[in-house]
Amino acid sequence: MAAYTTETITPKYHEALVAWQKKNFPEMEFLERNWSKYYPTQTPYQLFAKIGKLSSDAIQYGRMAGQPRFEKAGDMVGNMFYTARDIIRAQASTELGSIQQHRLTLEEAPTDAMKISILRIMAEELRHGYQMFWVFDHDASWRKPGHPDVAKETMDELLTMQLGNHVLDAFNIPFFNFLDNVIFATSIDLVGKYQLEMQKVFSYAPMARSMSPMLSEEGYHIGSGRGFLKELGIGATTDRGRYSIEEIQKAINAWIPRGLEMFGNERGGETAMAFGFKDRNNGTAQSEYYSEVREVVELVNVEIARTKVKDMTAPDARSLVREVQDTAETIQGVSPRDLLYIPDPKFFRHRGMEEIIFMPYDVHGNLITEDGGRPVGGEKYLAYLKSVLPDYYLATKDFAKYREGLLGREAPQPGKSYGW
Ligand SMILES: [Fe+2]
Ligand SMILES: [Fe+2]
Repeated sequence: MAAYTTETITPKYHEALVAWQKKNFPEMEFLERNWSKYYPTQTPYQLFAKIGKLSSDAIQYGRMAGQPRFEKAGDMVGNMFYTARDIIRAQASTELGSIQQHRLTLEEAPTDAMKISILRIMAEELRHGYQMFWVFDHDASWRKPGHPDVAKETMDELLTMQLGNHVLDAFNIPFFNFLDNVIFATSIDLVGKYQLEMQKVFSYAPMARSMSPMLSEEGYHIGSGRGFLKELGIGATTDRGRYSIEEIQKAINAWIPRGLEMFGNERGGETAMAFGFKDRNNGTAQSEYYSEVREVVELVNVEIARTKVKDMTAPDARSLVREVQDTAETIQGVSPRDLLYIPDPKFFRHRGMEEIIFMPYDVHGNLITEDGGRPVGGEKYLAYLKSVLPDYYLATKDFAKYREGLLGREAPQPGKSYGW
């Protein structure tokens, strides 16, 4: 038995999404024509919603644990109704936004295989956007008596969103080169995986049923990103690649802070749990994510070390990588500059816990201070950021917004605690 059934949405919104695709993603037609050539064992791509099964009929977390899940949005009361809408809206915005981002640098893919993979990722993100539209569209109770038509209002807004006005910052950053496609699939899609995983318990059943089919597709996105990052890392090591380790590292430094912020304030998330929308709070999910993304980069480092040191086993390479990074010394010809790392969670943050946002932390999580121990001011931190972020990224609106926020804040006060 298939793990899911399929549904389409009302012709009005189905056609609106097809029109959106023609405008924002015309390359999809090439993928559809060639699907069986590149993916002979995969069922041909189709734009529909996949309705999976619930792990339990009852709500599993929060205030209403044990009660049946909500089938109708209109049965959710007060804040719960609008919080559910906000989560579905944000999810849909990420799906559509990422297509707009990937497309900017699609043609720069170093290999055909990379380009085809990105096309498939984009097509699947479109299906995920469609899936979120289905959640709104199939349930007439999003139109509650005395309220505006929340479903229509939200879908219409989503169809007009461009880079710059998507819900989450990570989806407003334009891609500059193919490194962005790769680092994004590796690190930002991985945040997506955590969100979908957590939302399997969603107390509003249609959202919960949407998660498993989306998750299995996300596996491909993350897997592609990791494979390509490995290829690029090895390419940099052998000098045959397009990007240097320093360039790859700078792209990682730009994306990871925005990925961490997608979880929301690390002290928050209790409301979503109380409503039974998620099974973990923000801080727990964020730290699990952080460990996973570090592991991903360590595996790339292992391959880099094995490229540099002949006939080395993977476990030996892993020990070598750790030793090089812990001691900051060159060992067996492998130096810290040959390897990649994930910046500390406190680095370059503008959302989250008050004591870390806009604070001058370096990539290793050390506070950059003046001689007297006082944290450096905004201008000095900006100069530091310029040395560890990609040049092109510094010209984006995203960075301008950070800069404004940083310089607009009052100078750090001595005596205040700046710890993690
Ligand atoms: Fe997705
Ligand atoms: Fe994805």
